[in-house]
Amino acid sequence: MKDYLATIVENKKIANGVYSITFRVDEDVQVRCGQFGEIAVGGSHLLRRPIAICKVEGKHITFCYQVKGEGTQKLKEMSAGAQLNVLMPLGNGFFVEESEQKVALVGGGVGIFPLISVLRQYRGEKQISSYMGFRNKAAVCMLSELSKANKSVVVSDDGSYGAKMNAVQAFEADLAAGNRPDVVLACGPMPMLRALKQVAEREGLTCFVSLEERMGCGIGACLVCVCAMTNGANARVCKDGPVFNAKSVEL
Ligand SMILES: Cc1cc2nc3c(=O)[nH]c(=O)nc-3n(C[C@H](O)[C@H](O)[C@H](O)COP(=O)(O)OP(=O)(O)OC[C@H]3O[C@@H](n4cnc5c(N)ncnc54)[C@H](O)[C@@H]3O)c2cc1C
Ligand code: FES
Repeated sequence: MKDYLATIVENKKIANGVYSITFRVDEDVQVRCGQFGEIAVGGSHLLRRPIAICKVEGKHITFCYQVKGEGTQKLKEMSAGAQLNVLMPLGNGFFVEESEQKVALVGGGVGIFPLISVLRQYRGEKQISSYMGFRNKAAVCMLSELSKANKSVVVSDDGSYGAKMNAVQAFEADLAAGNRPDVVLACGPMPMLRALKQVAEREGLTCFVSLEERMGCGIGACLVCVCAMTNGANARVCKDGPVFNAKSVEL
């Protein structure tokens, strides 16, 4: 992990309220899928913002972000050539065991971005089925990346793109049709992860979830991001996670 001075190469809109920002740094960065960066968006009063690393191509690192509040609004206004500090790579990331050949990715909203990094790391090596849910057609993005999965299902809450259902329902439908994965990897809003955990428990599936907590330091020191484990202990999402076995964490 290092605090890189990163130069913006491109910052463009990819869906309604969602942007893709690519930085160039001065050396190749080794990143595990599902890791994230803490971006110093500027303004001395603002904490860094945690965003999943979506793509890495040598010295070029791409993050995709939804504009939510002050930090991501500032990021949106930045142009190519500007420089920002980015602390990365952070967190544990996703890891697929040798024995796990069939991988299901279940993502909702901005939760799709760390899963794109999984797809990029494991495509060609694993049999990947992707189930991604968006609010509506205007929010749909990354279709060319998603199409590289062995199977790609894209749905929307209002039915304006694909079937009218959420990503967990799309996954369950395929499960019922006999497409049973060896492992499920997921990221998305908490209600989605909760529903998926129930499905995984009922079906006896191994499931890992990436959590999105509010963060401070991003390196395990401030305890802003603590979450509860099922054994009664606490864990830091930034350092012990953000990826956890679903059965080990309270959702
Ligand atoms: C490990 C990790 C990876 C993430 N990856 C992505 C990503 O790839 N793309 C993306 O768009 N977002 C991602 N997020 C969420 C992102 O960090 C927040 O949306 C962002 O920090 C909001 O900053 P802001 O200043 O724009 O909003 P603020 O003004 O700080 O907050 C605006 C709203 O967003 C909510 N919010 C703030 N931070 C978070 C958070 N960490 N999680 C959930 N809700 C939050 C607030 O409660 C508030 O309702 C990730 C978060 C984590 C922890
Ligand atoms: S953000 Fe500081 S301990 Fe996790």
